[in-house]
Amino acid sequence: MSRKPFIAGNWKMNMNVESGKKLIKELIPLVKDANCDVALCVPAILIPEMVKAASGSNIKIGAENVHWAASGAFTGEISADMLKDYGVEYAIIGHSERRQYFGETDESVNKRTLAALNAGLTPIVCVGELLAERENGTTNDVLLKQLSVGLKGVEDVTKVVIAYEPVWAIGTGKTATDAQAQETIAFIRKTIGELFCPKCAEKIVIQYGGSMNAGNCKGLMAQPDIDGGLIGGASLKTDFAAIVNFDK
Ligand code: 13P
Repeated sequence: MSRKPFIAGNWKMNMNVESGKKLIKELIPLVKDANCDVALCVPAILIPEMVKAASGSNIKIGAENVHWAASGAFTGEISADMLKDYGVEYAIIGHSERRQYFGETDESVNKRTLAALNAGLTPIVCVGELLAERENGTTNDVLLKQLSVGLKGVEDVTKVVIAYEPVWAIGTGKTATDAQAQETIAFIRKTIGELFCPKCAEKIVIQYGGSMNAGNCKGLMAQPDIDGGLIGGASLKTDFAAIVNFDK
């Protein structure tokens, strides 16, 4: 199995130019010997300064969303080419906060994913069930729909990163247990095998996200199907480096 681990931060609507640059400068020496890919997904307006701050290091910069059209009358939106132009390499798509507060659907996730891939960005496609769905036993049905609609028409699914983020574990301090995260991510991998191809399932990188921190990352990362993490709160401080260095 040759999947390279991938630890990414999601700053959400936090940080400013000064605090962002300071954190990146602090992180650079701490993560320079990482055995995994490292990215920070930051608010769009901070992208140019954070790309500059991270330049020459192994920290790549990502966006937190991307529009599906190449250009046009979409006031307030940002296209994949615009992000590429500024040195962005990744784009989070379909985060549960966007699904919950901004009307994101599996169909719009699909359009954004295809646009990101077309522009050469790596989409980090977020999937995950609500607490009620876990409790009523429909987690796998929800994930199957999110994956089959969200990734429809993708030619090479191994160019996509999937982030499994159970909604009940995001920002709540309630992490999925190692076994729960492993079981669900194994289901996601199996589903990718069925929707695409068994080799794709072996190759695709799947992260866990939801209250992942320096204390619980080792146990999660030790699971055979968990290839990385999408980190919210703990990516706003130098604790992020401890997660990046989970294997040390
Ligand atoms: P927390 O790590 O703050 O729970 O956030 C997870 C998340 O939503 C990352 O995208």
